[in-house]
Amino acid sequence: MAFSFFKKSAASEQPKSGSTGHYRDLVIRSVKSETADAVSVEFEKPDRAMDYQSGQFITLVLQIDGKEVRRAYSLCSSPATDANPTVAVKRVKNGLVSNWVADNFKSGQTIKVLEPMGHFTLKYNPDNQRQIILFAGGSGITPMMSIIKSITAIELKSHCTLIYCNRDLESIIFKRDLEQLEQTFPSQLKVIHVLDNPPASWKGYSGYLNATILDSIFQSPPSADALYMLCGPEQMMKLTGELLAGRGVQADKIMKESFSHEVQTKPASSVSEKEGKVREVTIRYDGQEFKVSVPPDKTILETALGQGIDLPYSCQSGLCTACRGKALSGKVKLDEEDGLSSSEMAEGYVLTCVGHPLTDDVVIEIG
Ligand SMILES: Cc1cc2nc3c(=O)[nH]c(=O)nc-3n(C[C@H](O)[C@H](O)[C@H](O)COP(=O)(O)OP(=O)(O)OC[C@H]3O[C@@H](n4cnc5c(N)ncnc54)[C@H](O)[C@@H]3O)c2cc1C
Ligand code: FES
Repeated sequence: MAFSFFKKSAASEQPKSGSTGHYRDLVIRSVKSETADAVSVEFEKPDRAMDYQSGQFITLVLQIDGKEVRRAYSLCSSPATDANPTVAVKRVKNGLVSNWVADNFKSGQTIKVLEPMGHFTLKYNPDNQRQIILFAGGSGITPMMSIIKSITAIELKSHCTLIYCNRDLESIIFKRDLEQLEQTFPSQLKVIHVLDNPPASWKGYSGYLNATILDSIFQSPPSADALYMLCGPEQMMKLTGELLAGRGVQADKIMKESFSHEVQTKPASSVSEKEGKVREVTIRYDGQEFKVSVPPDKTILETALGQGIDLPYSCQSGLCTACRGKALSGKVKLDEEDGLSSSEMAEGYVLTCVGHPLTDDVVIEIG
């Protein structure tokens, strides 16, 4: 493949959203209140087909107070069952975008988004006969909703168990939709709610997820090749991971999607003084080749954006993988490794938003 060469030394030009064709303008069809602090936003079917897989997310690219801000939101619609892409957003205390969306999004508005991305996905096949155990907490239900719809529509012989943890009854997002799905597909879906603060009349599980609750849920244990998918608050994901490990579940049977770090700040540069020097990195993206000189206190993404190169990104903190690329040569150090699985790391994948070159021959291919 031929790459055009592009190099800018001036760090003044800002990236131009929309210039690479990876952006979409989506028109809001409706905004629906799901709970007291969560809304779902359904978009009109885009003019140009927007392919996505259950479990993927779109990135909202918004202008708030004159600044561009981006946040990832998983699609809760399924390409197998829903005509219109839909996301659900839960308010985060003092959160900029989640509250903006809940307060300002109205039908008819046009919203710029980065096309669907993400690797929290499955390959569906009508012949599959598998067991999938989903653990969701709070807004972590969004990708699970899409996955459940796809599984029940496509894999009639597979079975999903959803264990959904919430603060209380009122904070369960999609409660009625889940009940309906369970009633429609009784042999394919079982939904189990776990509430921190249940009402006095609650007959289900209560308190934080623990070994006793899991033992009770899995009185007949899942098969050894069951797949586990986790999405929720960091603490819940960590705890669930430990509980599954304690039950002997192999790490390669567990998939995770993190929405936030406990403290969502950009991780500090992990490059030591000894390792640190300005190094040139070659980035291949969208049929073009870019060269950037990355100083030790900046990430590869930051440097590229500063030079006006419009690379894909969303969370900028090593969570969402929107900035994922493959290092074809050279060594890259990541400030935060949690966003990548050990097999992705072994294959050479890196996250440019938390990545620093450690050698002078780094070539990264994105997309
Ligand atoms: C791959 C991916 C998919 C996501 N999908 C969804 C989704 O479907 N629905 C959804 O509601 N959110 C989702 N998120 C989270 C979303 O992108 C935002 O991070 C979230 O809405 C908070 O943004 P904010 O601008 O309101 O908060 P910010 O202004 O960025 O943060 C404000 C404060 O809240 C803390 N914080 C940030 N996010 C969270 C959180 N999720 N929980 C608790 N504390 C937090 C921060 O540490 C910070 O202190 C997803 C994130 C990722 C990476
Ligand atoms: S932009 Fe989200 S992981 Fe890099």
